[in-house]
Amino acid sequence: MDYIKFSCEIKSCSIEELDKEDQALHKAALESCEKAYAPYSKFYVGAAVRMNNGETIVANNQENMAYPSGMCAERIAVFQAKSAYPKSAIDTICITAKNDTEEPITSCGSCRQVMLEYEKIQTGPIKIIMVQSTGKTWISESVNNLLPFGFDLPKQE
Ligand code: THU
Repeated sequence: MDYIKFSCEIKSCSIEELDKEDQALHKAALESCEKAYAPYSKFYVGAAVRMNNGETIVANNQENMAYPSGMCAERIAVFQAKSAYPKSAIDTICITAKNDTEEPITSCGSCRQVMLEYEKIQTGPIKIIMVQSTGKTWISESVNNLLPFGFDLPKQE
């Protein structure tokens, strides 16, 4: 029997160690976080997407009384980004939460799968920056790194 081992590499740093562009992306995510509609979980999340055409798209989580009808901040941001600029690639996504969490916030499996598909259809990787409210920061250089066993694109006929 063989074992297959997957590993995941995350860079850990402080918010001050990010370059100016990424710090600005974090600021945009944090500002958006304040506008989240999260009356049920009271967990306020903000996301900011930087595209390779220079545009930045922000979003926050939107919840609903019919629980599964809500949507995570990063999925709204990424869908908005790709619906507005379908031909542009996603460069970086910053995700942050207002609440105290022990570690930087990480995306749910559905969001990772959505981000992974966009990564697969573009040339370069999507960098994911995850920031905790104290400023502790994790960086993944690609979505692929965050989702072992992610779905592949269907084969083209
Ligand atoms: N949430 C996000 O928006 N992004 C994440 O990365 C994790 C979780 C939202 C979904 C829900 O509205 C609330 O946070 C609690 O899970």
